[in-house]
Amino acid sequence: PHQFIELLPFANHLLPLPSLQAVGSDGVRISMESALTARDRVGVQDFVLLENHTSEAAFIENLRKRFKENLIYTYIGSVLVSVNPYKDLEIYTKNHMERYRGVNFYEVSPHVYAVSDNSYRSMRTERRDQCILISGESGAGKTEASKKILQYYAVTCPASDQVETVKDRLLQSNPVLEAFGNAKTLRNDNSSRFGKYMDIQFDFKGAPVGGHILNYLLEKSRVVHQNHGERNFHIFYQLIEGGEEDLLRRLGLERNPQQYQYLVKVGDTRASLYGWKPCKTSNSMWCFWVSQGNCPKVSSINDRSDWKVVRKALSVIGFSEDEVEELLNIIASVLHLGNIQYGGEDSGNAYITTDTQIKYLARLKSPLNLEQASSARDALSKAVYGRTFTWLVNKINVSLAYKGSPLWMCCIIGLLDIYGFEVFQHNSFEQFCINYCNEKLQQLFIELTLKSEQDEYEAEGITWEPVQYFNNKIICDLVEEKFKGIISILDEECLRPGDASDITFLEKLENTVGGHAHLTTHKLADGKTRKVMGREEFRLLHYAGEVNYNVNGFLDKNNDLLFRNLKEVMCMSDNKILTQCFDRAELKDSKRPETAATQFKTSLAKLMEILMSKEPSYVRCIKPNDAKQAGRFDDVLIRHQVKYLGLMENLRVRRAGFAYRRHYETFLQRYKSLCPETWPSWQGKLADGVSTLVKHLGYKPEEYKLGRSKIFIRFPKTLFATEDALETRKHSLGERVTYHMVLVDGRHLLSLRTVAWWRGILACRRAQRKRQAANTIRRFIKGFIYRHNERCPENEYFLDYVRYSFLMKLRRNLPKSVLDKSWPTAPTALIEASEQLRKLYMQNMVWGYCKRINPEWKHQLEQKMVASEIFKNKKDNYPQSVPKLFMGTRLNGEEINPKVLQSLGSEKMKYAVPVTKYDRKGYKARPRQLLLTSNCAVIVEEAKLKQRIDYAALKGISVSSLSDGVFVLHVPTEDKKQKGDVVLQSDHIIETLTKVAICADKVNSININQGSITFTMGQGKEGIIDFTSGSELLVAKAKNGHLSVTAPRLNSR
Ligand SMILES: Nc1ncnc2c1ncn2[C@@H]1O[C@H](COP(=O)(O)OP(=O)(O)O)[C@@H](O)[C@H]1O
Ligand SMILES: [Mg+2]
Repeated sequence: PHQFIELLPFANHLLPLPSLQAVGSDGVRISMESALTARDRVGVQDFVLLENHTSEAAFIENLRKRFKENLIYTYIGSVLVSVNPYKDLEIYTKNHMERYRGVNFYEVSPHVYAVSDNSYRSMRTERRDQCILISGESGAGKTEASKKILQYYAVTCPASDQVETVKDRLLQSNPVLEAFGNAKTLRNDNSSRFGKYMDIQFDFKGAPVGGHILNYLLEKSRVVHQNHGERNFHIFYQLIEGGEEDLLRRLGLERNPQQYQYLVKVGDTRASLYGWKPCKTSNSMWCFWVSQGNCPKVSSINDRSDWKVVRKALSVIGFSEDEVEELLNIIASVLHLGNIQYGGEDSGNAYITTDTQIKYLARLKSPLNLEQASSARDALSKAVYGRTFTWLVNKINVSLAYKGSPLWMCCIIGLLDIYGFEVFQHNSFEQFCINYCNEKLQQLFIELTLKSEQDEYEAEGITWEPVQYFNNKIICDLVEEKFKGIISILDEECLRPGDASDITFLEKLENTVGGHAHLTTHKLADGKTRKVMGREEFRLLHYAGEVNYNVNGFLDKNNDLLFRNLKEVMCMSDNKILTQCFDRAELKDSKRPETAATQFKTSLAKLMEILMSKEPSYVRCIKPNDAKQAGRFDDVLIRHQVKYLGLMENLRVRRAGFAYRRHYETFLQRYKSLCPETWPSWQGKLADGVSTLVKHLGYKPEEYKLGRSKIFIRFPKTLFATEDALETRKHSLGERVTYHMVLVDGRHLLSLRTVAWWRGILACRRAQRKRQAANTIRRFIKGFIYRHNERCPENEYFLDYVRYSFLMKLRRNLPKSVLDKSWPTAPTALIEASEQLRKLYMQNMVWGYCKRINPEWKHQLEQKMVASEIFKNKKDNYPQSVPKLFMGTRLNGEEINPKVLQSLGSEKMKYAVPVTKYDRKGYKARPRQLLLTSNCAVIVEEAKLKQRIDYAALKGISVSSLSDGVFVLHVPTEDKKQKGDVVLQSDHIIETLTKVAICADKVNSININQGSITFTMGQGKEGIIDFTSGSELLVAKAKNGHLSVTAPRLNSR
């Protein structure tokens, strides 16, 4: 018979999986690329592998090659460079997400999902907060990237029911914030006009459970003014285009953006002063005249459908209908405000009567001149919009807030999508702040990338020489330094009394920081620069390039003041949102609010702190052209970005050290087939394996270094050579496998190679066992953390384990006897079951015990039961009696006088005990016998039957609570036959009285007294026995004529 050697399982073990995929059809070209083999056709997927790494041209060429192939992502080490494709690439499907999930960063082609997944996994495995910093200029794709990352987490992270809503809310916060905070600019049709930092909180299971958003400096001026070709915030157009008829009627709006000056007018307030009237019918003349800033319709934006998305998102986030209405009311009011005309009897007045806030505003007309009134109106619009935006962010935060276990148990991934570096024809205060923010981020990038690189070398024990790079700290200082920084100077001008103006600010700049290498003004500039600068401009040499800022409006914008009476009016509004935005406390606070720039500076400093505390990943976005066009790769523009993003420096730093690094295990796993000693598996230490392997490959000492856990390879070509060798090896291995697949004739000889395969399998199994062990440990830890939760996939393994081990322990430690009350402590999950088990087990043990009992013992126990009922916790010497067996009788037949027995006749003797009787008078002690028959108790003196008490006549029995043996049998006084109660003493008082109680059926008639017992002596006289505790037992007549009994205390109570 022939025997097949199956190819598949063997081959699987022989070759690392990714490489196996790389062999074969065209469909796997992407993974070939990842295996670095297709590097020439689509460039290198990691710039560090670029041969000519100092050449900017080579860098850009690589970007271009990839861009043309729609490969928009490339790494520089762990930094992702992304080029905006300006078209849909179909690389964001669920399948793509799956492909990147849990896969090693380098095993798949570069993608923003790989960065997302890498951060997520680092967070999960190291439990360290992460942040992903997305930078790049306006329109480079930052916001899109942040959305992709969020979507990736929403789709791929584990979830529960509650988490679903959180995921929805996280996702839906985007369209809402974009509607209110984004606008079309010249650079980007959907430009974020605010900075956004978003924390996504993950619980122990790795499920997103909450979020928090920090917003930075909304460009409020856009509400009242937009540059030519730009728009106001999207929400205005969405509302007007998409709002239902009813809604618009309620808000007093018309479906025509041309109606609203804030949406169509030139930013210059003078336009309104000219007194033009907006006309409802579109008039081309009019359009020509006013269209400089007018841009309500944009082909790439569908306001109507966006409106639907926003409306739905608002509901998902948890806005009530009323809140939405109030919010939109504010938006509408801003539009109405913009239409207020002063001095003219504008048709806009019609709205004034419908809107209370505007009515109040109308009162301002008198004290202010036209220009002041207009600027007051605009200030109000900006304040209302700005504060509403902040309110909106807070509202979203409430909706995203995680209500579960404490926050410190969560891990966080922060996403920073903040306005990119921006240069326009005219740059104002906003651009100044935005670009300052970018300086700060660049500073952070420099610190963290360089620092982390150096840290790694240090951690691995590799010596390395620092690389020079431009540190932009000098520019940050120029802007933010206390007293001498630009912000301080601006604040000073804002706060000082007197005739401060934008121009005096400029002069002050010249006087204070005029000599700074990164600042110049028209006055200070050389002739060439002066030509391209306005007189009211100052120029900053940012790390990203030169920007001229026009000082006009700097003071006003920095002061950001609103007339006090306008604030008062706002506080009185019926609109609930506005009353939250304008707090009365603010009116009382006489302290001057911080200036806008200082507030921004402080919030940026806080942001830096937040980011520094986390492990960063970077996405560096590049804009391929200024025309927002697909497929256009503008060299000049890209070179500029590559330069200021510091990508070349980034690459240099990465390369100056080592281009390539891998953990020993990964490296060995991938290349072990290239060396006989390491193939198919290496038994010794990993470092030795790698060392053996690279020596066999002929690596020269300067080409690589071995760190503590990683190998560092200096040149890409070394790695390429190794990759090529691997490729060749795979083919030959493939052939050999095929060869062995051929039926081996007759006696199935095990060739040496088959032995090698077998060793491969063993190694593989070992690895599998290791993996399983690691999994078990991980599951166990997770289970421990969740042990108090309801049973869920995370803890079921742990709970089962705990149950199993408890039951096993219980089995070994069961109580041995009915008296053994020990029982192992049960884990929380088993408390109830354990209690049931304990009861069952006890019952069972008792049942077994009872079954084994003989009648005699049973009788004994019954008597002990009675004794316990009567005396337990009542008489001091009871505990001492418990372990002593009750005797059947204390006097046998010979010890009782036959005459006595005779006189008792047929009455059966049940118990007999020697007692002491105390005379009623004088309390003389006399030895007697107490006999119990079935009908009576008899007191006997030798042969004389001294007294017989029928049980029926026994009124009661009294005894003290002390340890003495004295007791009184009470008999009825009217019974003439009796000479009164009998005072006796027994050395076995518990036993004796138990017998009496049982024989006479008087269990309930035994009185246990404290202090004294009164008894009758016949003829109506009474005697008293006093009981006291003392050092020893003493029974004697006391001077007061009582019988005094002293008994030692045996048990402390
Ligand atoms: N990965 C991408 N795929 C397709 N189009 C993109 C991508 N990134 C950006 N874009 C396009 O570029 C525009 C601007 O991107 P955006 O993320 O808003 O820029 P930024 O936030 O950097 O200013 C988007 O509206 C979109 O049309
Ligand atoms: Mg953006």
